[in-house]
Amino acid sequence: MEDNHRKKKNAAEPGVTRRHFLTGTGLGAVGLATGVPAVEGDTKTDSAVVIEAGQTVPVTLQINGVRKRLLVEPRWSLAYVLREQLVMTGTKLGCDRGECGACTVLVDDVPRYSCMTLTLEAEDSKITTLEGLLDGEELGDVQRAFAEKDAFQCGYCTPGQVMAVEGLLRSNPDPSIEEIRTGVSGNLCRCGTYPNIFKAAHLAADMKRGRGGGS
Ligand code: FES
Ligand code: FES
Repeated sequence: MEDNHRKKKNAAEPGVTRRHFLTGTGLGAVGLATGVPAVEGDTKTDSAVVIEAGQTVPVTLQINGVRKRLLVEPRWSLAYVLREQLVMTGTKLGCDRGECGACTVLVDDVPRYSCMTLTLEAEDSKITTLEGLLDGEELGDVQRAFAEKDAFQCGYCTPGQVMAVEGLLRSNPDPSIEEIRTGVSGNLCRCGTYPNIFKAAHLAADMKRGRGGGS
């Protein structure tokens, strides 16, 4: 359910080519940079938009409740900016092509593959990363539940699994086992720790409900 939604959101709409999409994204970015609104179908504006390789545009991101103003290349993924520009390495990169879920973050509380999300797409959205789940210096509920239920082996998929569960519980505070399975089905675990991941999700739901459902 949620993973399908994620993949659908990440995939280009039918009839919209990658080139078309990137051009549209660049159009918005230039509108932002110049203060001139970009008008769809306006060939004058369209032909004026040339973003050279290596050229950056400004973007404002809201990450874990903090606004950050950055210069990014329109082609940069959110995963790249989080890890390489902001050194927020809680977000992992596995496949870097929308297959494993290791890079999952929340965008407006919905799990998204950050490797398949352009940074410019995430402007004006609320972005939550693994670091944003911490409760001060302490682990957040989902993180603690994973530790208590031993829901990892090598741990590489774990940040993405935690974010997928966090996203699930934000939309469904009391999920059934089937809903949990569906909720993390976009996140692969090559170590096969799924049974414990499901137990951790249940425990995290109990923890959150016990404290009134907050994140
Ligand atoms: S790194 Fe993004 S889905 Fe695998
Ligand atoms: S714990 Fe190793 S990939 Fe999931």
